[in-house]
Formats: sequence, C-alpha cells, structure tokens
Amino acid sequence: MRVADLFCGGGGFSAGFKMAGFDIAYGIDNDSNACKTFKHNFPQAQVDEMDIRDLDYRELPEFEVLIGSPPCVDFSKGNNDRGFSLAFINLFLDIVEETKPDYWVMENVPDIMTLNFFSMGLRFKFPNIQILEAYRFGAPTVRRRFFGGKYPKTPIPPNYAVVKDYININRPGHRQPYKDHVYRKINPNKPLFTICAQRISNDRYLLPNGSSLSVCEYATLQGFPDWFVFPVSRSQTQRQVGNAVCPPVAAAIGKAIMHDHNGTEDEPDYAEVTIEKQSKRTVNSKSKRIDQE
Ligand SMILES: C[S@@+](CC[C@H](N)C(=O)[O-])C[C@H]1O[C@@H](n2cnc3c(N)ncnc32)[C@H](O)[C@@H]1O
Repeated sequence: MRVADLFCGGGGFSAGFKMAGFDIAYGIDNDSNACKTFKHNFPQAQVDEMDIRDLDYRELPEFEVLIGSPPCVDFSKGNNDRGFSLAFINLFLDIVEETKPDYWVMENVPDIMTLNFFSMGLRFKFPNIQILEAYRFGAPTVRRRFFGGKYPKTPIPPNYAVVKDYININRPGHRQPYKDHVYRKINPNKPLFTICAQRISNDRYLLPNGSSLSVCEYATLQGFPDWFVFPVSRSQTQRQVGNAVCPPVAAAIGKAIMHDHNGTEDEPDYAEVTIEKQSKRTVNSKSKRIDQE
C-alpha cells in the first residue's frame, strides 16, 4: 500500500510505515532541510517542498493511506497561534474529504483534546482516537501523542522500553561546556523524558557518567532505525528528531492497518506489532553525517 505524508518533516512518521511494509509515495513540507532528509531516506517518493496551502491535491500521486502531523495546536487560552494551527488541522481534514484514502492518521499533541476540541465538533471527525506512549512500542521515551483517523485500533504492547537497553550508557565522553543550558541527568532505567525540538536545543542531557548525549543517541532514543540518515547539520537533525513521530509507534499503527487490509479476522497480537529493539547506534557511527555542522 502507498502512503502520502503531509507536513512530513524529516520523515519519522513515514519511517515507521516503511518499517511496517508500506511504500512511501509522497511527502510535502515547506522546510528545505526537512525535505532533504525525507528525500534521502525515501528516494522513490515525490517530495514537494512548498507551503501546503498552495497544494492542488488533484495533482497528488496515487496513495491508499494518508498520514500527517499538522503543527501542534496549543488550545490554551491566550494562544494567538491557535487559529493558525487549527486551520492546518482543518486543511488536513479537507484533504481527507477530497482524496478519500482507504485509511488516514493524523498525529498531534494529546492536549488537542480539550473542551474546545469537543465544542468545535472536531472529535466527531476522527472515527478512531488513541493516545499512544512511545515506550510501549520500543522507543525508550515517555512521549505521548494523539493519533486520530480512520485506522483500526492498535494493540498496546505491555512493554516498558528503557534508555540503557538502547544506547551504551558507559561509553566514554565528556560534558559539553555549553553556557546558559539546563543540564538534565538521564535515568538509564527509565524511558527518556519527551524529546522535543526546543528542549533538545536548550537543554543538555547527561548520561550517569556525566557525558552529554550525542544527536545520534537522541535519534536512537526517539526510535529511528539505524538505516535512517540525517544528511543535514547537527542543529537541523536535532530539530527533525524532536519534531518526529516515533517510528516504532507509527510502525505499530501501520501493522494494524496492514492486518485490517489483508482481511485477517483475528486481532493483531502484541508480538506482531512490537518492533524489535534497534541495534545500538554508537556515538561515532554515522555521526560524520549527523554530528558535523
Ligand atoms: C510536527 S512536524 C512533522 C514531523 C513529521 N511528521 C515526522 O514524523 O518527522 C510539522 C512539520 O510541518 C511543517 N510545516 C509547517 N507549516 C507548513 C506549511 N505551511 N506547509 C508545509 N509544511 C509546513 C514544518 O516544517 C514541520 O516539518
């Protein structure tokens, strides 16, 4: 089945669908660095680097599954961007309406589900809604996200992924001497706190031995598979990793869709949707590409 990815970023959402066996046919984002990473990892896909508001969806390539992460909505009072972000959600829903994909999934922050979400009637536009936590699916971070759309209920495995199983916490290193940064100690026996683009650039995460996490390690903890390459600067990589849907969560949704599409009557079980732990991406492997500015 073919996937189109709106607001595709570097491609975390699509990476998960690729892991589940889908063909990534299309991506659109107005950020040139995000498009560069997306193109690199999904070379067969058509990638439009443009403002989605100028998209003529009648010219999209064919696809059966539509996914996307409109920029997050902050529904809190006094947020002047609220209308702006809502417009992107409505645009996503319009494209669903016009293109009628077999399945569709929109990702956002769980805070989207406030009273306003219900009073605006948005709730009823999403046939299935699940709030999924990444550490259940094999990405050791507590990241919780809203996934709404037309897709089968995705089973939640009883797993608890923790940092020490994914990166080498005893590797040698040093604490990078950044000024004006908050240093946060990682508990290797737990999932990492939610990684977000802004937090990665303002804060520095330290392993128990005091060395700073590398950007490769951030990517691994966010659940990016080893084959995924970020051919952009370190700061752009941080941004793309922090913005991304955790690929193992997307892969679990993708597997549930595949299962439904193939018409198997029994429920997909946990084992089937649980993603194997990624092999450890060491600090220096691929870091030439990732870590150099
Ligand atoms: C939350 S991020 C997407 C992350 C992506 N789903 C992933 O898993 O890697 C939202 C993306 O929307 C893009 N974006 C924001 N405004 C846009 C617009 N007007 N047109 C196209 N893309 C836009 C941003 O550049 C950003 O990459």
